[in-house]
Amino acid sequence: MALSSKIFGHRGASGHAPENTLSAIAKAAELGCKWVEVDLKLTADGVIVLSHDDDFSRTANAERTCSETPLYMIKALDVGRWFSDEFIGETVPTVSEFLSLLTVLNMGVNLELKPDKGFEQETGRKIAEYVRDNWPSQLPSPIISSFDRDALAASHEVLPRVEHAILWEDIPSNWQDEVESLKADAIHVDSDKLTETQCKAFIDSGSPVRCYTVNDKDRAAELISWGVDGIFTDYPDRMKGLK
Ligand code: G3P
Ligand code: MG
Repeated sequence: MALSSKIFGHRGASGHAPENTLSAIAKAAELGCKWVEVDLKLTADGVIVLSHDDDFSRTANAERTCSETPLYMIKALDVGRWFSDEFIGETVPTVSEFLSLLTVLNMGVNLELKPDKGFEQETGRKIAEYVRDNWPSQLPSPIISSFDRDALAASHEVLPRVEHAILWEDIPSNWQDEVESLKADAIHVDSDKLTETQCKAFIDSGSPVRCYTVNDKDRAAELISWGVDGIFTDYPDRMKGLK
């Protein structure tokens, strides 16, 4: 059964399959998601891949960063075994492999720019250029987000008409200035830090709000009742029935 389009599979359905892999994306679709969120980085040879951490120690037992590793070496990593034996042999997807699957599944996506240190602007620019030149016309326009201001600004410059969201762990006291200076279209925020009053202030200022990472259905329902427009969850199966 299809879920509300407010429910985004976080890193795919990362409670059920290894995060940021094709299996996690397919699982999100199987569980009814119309949207997913994924994290994007650049390899040493400039290829865009799905990956979250500063290095591959947690997901592939390899202490190397994405930006210092060429694609052929990244493709040799097993990023499924850490999760469970069922996923042994799962590889890091390139953005092009990911987009092919997204097209087959007909899903929308929030692309989170996750630059390695020192590659902030390059990551934002290259991903935005890729989106500009390769986005399948039948898919909804992506939402692009980042914790990193430089990456977000570089992407926004290439794609001024695509929705860009600023991500916050802690809500800055000068949040309105941040939104205005970045010309951010939306706010993505840690659900644990969001109060009803703060949420109302965001919405009243004209910014849609989306929250990560919400794995509890009652909390998701409360956030949606406040007007939150999107919920990032590792467990889309828990969100059945939400409008
Ligand atoms: O984009 C929402 C969420 O994914 C941000 O945090 O660390 O899970 O990428 P993180
Ligand atoms: Mg993310």
